[in-house]
Amino acid sequence: MPSFVAAALGGLLSLTLAGTAMAQERFSLFVGSATENVMRMVKLADLRDDDVVVDLGSGDGRIVFAAAASNAKLRGWGVDIDAALVTRSNETAKEQGLANRVHFLHQNAFDADLSKSTVIFMWLWPELKRMLRPKILAEARPGTRVVTSTWDLGSWRPDEVDGEGTPVSMWIVPAKVEGNWNWSLPFGDRQASYAAVVEQRFQNAEGVVRVGARRGIFDNVRLRGEDISFTLAMTLDGAGFVRHEFVGKVQGDVIEGSVRISPSPHDKTVVLAWRATRTRDSAYFAPAGLIVPEK
Ligand SMILES: C[S@@+](CC[C@H](N)C(=O)[O-])C[C@H]1O[C@@H](n2cnc3c(N)ncnc32)[C@H](O)[C@@H]1O
Repeated sequence: MPSFVAAALGGLLSLTLAGTAMAQERFSLFVGSATENVMRMVKLADLRDDDVVVDLGSGDGRIVFAAAASNAKLRGWGVDIDAALVTRSNETAKEQGLANRVHFLHQNAFDADLSKSTVIFMWLWPELKRMLRPKILAEARPGTRVVTSTWDLGSWRPDEVDGEGTPVSMWIVPAKVEGNWNWSLPFGDRQASYAAVVEQRFQNAEGVVRVGARRGIFDNVRLRGEDISFTLAMTLDGAGFVRHEFVGKVQGDVIEGSVRISPSPHDKTVVLAWRATRTRDSAYFAPAGLIVPEK
């Protein structure tokens, strides 16, 4: 065989093998969760009447059935890549009189619509869970609880862990707060304009802010779902040293909430409405206008 044909065939073979390996990475076999772990996952999720739960890789449906049994109102669904397991799960739903609020789809977990579920269960091989992480963060609504057992989600640290035995962990999908945020607050007859720049990795956020030519740093930032809070202590021109405690809800490109301000220039602590909007550009980076003395 000519050497260029052998090389081409070799290349084709390695491409085919690479394709097979990738397909396998998106698959893990059916092994049912231990009953104890199912119950602990359901308990940690703290299910409510209006929850819609999904199990990615639902197997025989045991997690969805346990969730439905724990609350007579919630709705649930599952997806599995194995058609026979999906058929069996839908039959079980009928037998248990749950078909009006529980159903199962023959679907790849990577194609599941995560936008309408409030709780995502999954018990899949670790690499598959890790590969689903970006999809969950991009598509699930802020506040969605993600619950699993045994393996974690790498550098996305859980918000809650039940560590009695096999770890059972829960993550709260954080709102997206990365970017430039602007707001203003009244101080007497003046308005102070704040230009903040926020960085984010999972539920961890950091921020810096500029007011006029003064700059400060957010402290104690907490992001849980759409709820954000942080403190800021800095000197403002004309207002003196001001402590702020911000609390708000992130709704897309707007944060609405309140800020507790103490003590100067007001004699006592005041609470003001706080509305921040996300913008493409930021005054944070504008030239400060500081006069550098000439030599
Ligand atoms: C370890 S079992 C867990 C079953 C069930 N969630 C439980 O905890 O008992 C993993 C399940 O995920 C399914 N699965 C594997 N890869 C999948 C994928 N890419 N999309 C949907 N289901 C998948 C398998 O068919 C199997 O039923």
